[in-house]
Amino acid sequence: MAQNFPIPRTCPFDPPPEYARMREEAALVRAELPGGDVWLVTRHAEAQQVLTSTGISTSPATPGHPNHLMTADKPTPEQRAEMDKVAVGHFIDLDPPEHGRFRRLLIPEFTVRRVKELRPEIQRLTDDLIDDMLAGDGRAELVEAFGLALPSLVICRLLGVSYDDREFFQSRTRMMIAAADPNARLAAVKEIMAFLDDQVTKAEQAPGDNLLGRLIDGRQLTHDELVGVMFLLLVAGHETTANMIPLGALTMMRHPGQLARLRENPGGWPIAVDELLRYHSIVDWVAFDRVAAEDQEIGGQSVKKGEGIFVLGAAANRDERVFERPDEFDAARGARNHVAFGYGVHQCLGQNLARAEMEIALRTLFERIPGLRVEVPDEELSLKYDGPIFGLDTLPVVW
Ligand code: HEM
Repeated sequence: MAQNFPIPRTCPFDPPPEYARMREEAALVRAELPGGDVWLVTRHAEAQQVLTSTGISTSPATPGHPNHLMTADKPTPEQRAEMDKVAVGHFIDLDPPEHGRFRRLLIPEFTVRRVKELRPEIQRLTDDLIDDMLAGDGRAELVEAFGLALPSLVICRLLGVSYDDREFFQSRTRMMIAAADPNARLAAVKEIMAFLDDQVTKAEQAPGDNLLGRLIDGRQLTHDELVGVMFLLLVAGHETTANMIPLGALTMMRHPGQLARLRENPGGWPIAVDELLRYHSIVDWVAFDRVAAEDQEIGGQSVKKGEGIFVLGAAANRDERVFERPDEFDAARGARNHVAFGYGVHQCLGQNLARAEMEIALRTLFERIPGLRVEVPDEELSLKYDGPIFGLDTLPVVW
């Protein structure tokens, strides 16, 4: 019998328990969505195969794409029109060769070298946020005060959003990602699109020394494509990093021995960050929506053209064929071959930046607030079990 999908998590530190059973059973298993069946990819090797196969499409325009199967309801004309507007320049949803046109223009902005240049700025923003926390009464809510604030500030810098507009930008982004009411989310998307449209118009008149300014100077993208690219960077780079920072802090506090070793040897943080990414796999299947563009065999299964596929990143990252003791958190593991950033042509464009943000944020937090501890017992932690990307709603801490 086909597995119902999506399958909710039940533990903050593990993927849904069914994932281990499915991975044991087969590399590809059938699952049922409200609108039809899909394939779920459970193992690491096949995850990489699917994410690199030229016979597999990520575009929602390809017939059979599983996004259309997630709900039995069709979008309203207004929702459709808004989705179409956002889709321009949203290159995460494009297949080669069109995808490459955007990706090539953006790659220079996210190289290891460019991110190295950004590090002093990320460090300064991190220190400012920690100064604010330390100026308070010895307690803070780490998601709002730190986890959400840092990636949002970094993106503002990248896109050249002025400090004065930061609050509008942050609050609407939060609403777009987290509001329970779909109409509130749609309203926030509209406001952000209008805001970004305005930003692009201003930058076209006087391009700044930032990512947007350089894209405008390059004259390769239309106005609407620039707005779409800005929107994608905002969505892809915000909620992900914002969830990983508090989850990372919580995980380190639960492993005081490993945290003590990192304090003695801060050079170990980059490796710890990759283990945090593997262990939590917060994006799981959400970004890995694919459809077979031709008949093919994957993991011993015959996959037909037009069949939808979801790669379960959280299952692949716990595959015992690749990772020893996969359910254990081991900050010294060296898990760089995880698929938390994906694999192949769509592999996370912002991964160097995300790693730098996580590393600087977590190292500095534990250096500057050595007595940091969680204020509530585990059972009182509020977790995003029903959100598209896993994380903590809040993380009350004291020191
Ligand atoms: C911990 C933080 C992050 C995680 C876990 C993450 C995860 C991912 C994953 C899994 C994909 C692949 C999607 C696919 O295969 O279709 C992806 C793509 C992408 N990410 Fe990230 N991401 C993070 C941070 C960032 C940041 C900081 C940025 C930029 C500011 C960013 C920008 C992008 C973009 C533009 C893509 C699309 C790439 C393409 O289609 O060529 N991400 N990310």
